[in-house]
Amino acid sequence: MKKSLLLLLVVVMLFSAVSAISAADKPLAGVIWYNFADTFIQNARQSLLNVAKADGTIEITDADSNNDVATQTNNINNMFAQGVKYLVLNNINTNAISEICEQAKAEGVTTIFANTDSPSDEDFANYENLYLVTSRATQSGTIMGEAVAKYWKEHPEADRNGNGKLDYIMLLGFTWHYDTRVRAENSIKAVEDAGIETSRIGGELIAEYNRGKAQEMVAALLANYSDDIDAVFACNDDMALGAIEALKAGGFFKDEKTYIPVCGVDATAVGVDALKDGTLLVTSLNNPVKLGKAVYKTMWLLENGKEVTTETLGMDGVEVEGHRIWINYTPITKDNIEDAKYDITDPSF
Ligand code: GAL
Repeated sequence: MKKSLLLLLVVVMLFSAVSAISAADKPLAGVIWYNFADTFIQNARQSLLNVAKADGTIEITDADSNNDVATQTNNINNMFAQGVKYLVLNNINTNAISEICEQAKAEGVTTIFANTDSPSDEDFANYENLYLVTSRATQSGTIMGEAVAKYWKEHPEADRNGNGKLDYIMLLGFTWHYDTRVRAENSIKAVEDAGIETSRIGGELIAEYNRGKAQEMVAALLANYSDDIDAVFACNDDMALGAIEALKAGGFFKDEKTYIPVCGVDATAVGVDALKDGTLLVTSLNNPVKLGKAVYKTMWLLENGKEVTTETLGMDGVEVEGHRIWINYTPITKDNIEDAKYDITDPSF
């Protein structure tokens, strides 16, 4: 072999050995999302991957639970088996929160519950390396309720069957999910706090944050309640869009007279389009980029031996209370669509 070729080979081998060592040296974070196909989760996931890639301090490996508890359990065990230093869990096994915290403690893995129900005060007291990063869902509920109350007061014809009550449909995500429970409760609370009597149509409609499921449910209700429905509350934009589709097919949204207030949460791109075309009444920005970045920055601070506080996190609209990190919402209507912007490719944090 020629001398120069040999030299090149040695250099290449050295280079790959060094990069293998440095990759292995990097702390690994195992991130488990409940469903890669969920619009909001898709954006949060991408943002976290982009920030991590650009920064390079912490390596990410992620997994999809496909909306299945058993798959999530497998994912958690796989992450521990891979020796992750951090576990980020978009948990769907609400009944097992304490158990998961115990397992994480036994494994010595710093764990961040993300965009999900919070571990209890006791769980936090039992394990010092436990965190929560999620949005303040109460706000998103209140934003929907206040917008519908305002609409109702400004439009006497909004009481379509004239019974003096706001007859509404409530589209729920998952009943176990903090966001769903709190959004549903607080939206109706805001309407009732405005002095409006309410009546729910169709009972508990669990559409799993899914557009198609919501569309089917609303279409089915139209058969009996087409003259009664005064408003639709949807615990996310995807479900609101499904409701709008069904209502359109049922003869609504042709003109002002056939308008029905529908509200959502997230301010996804398609949600914002529906505000623009005058179908969706209101949504609120649940910023997936802030979720991705707050998760990354929390790990980054810990990795650098720093405490996680509102100041060290340094993100607008993100507040730290103990080990709970809360992301605020922004109300979005057709009048402030520009506030719904976020950039999932932005690597800064
Ligand atoms: C919520 C979001 C929903 C859905 C859900 C999944 O915060 O608003 O659209 O993504 O999380 O856990």
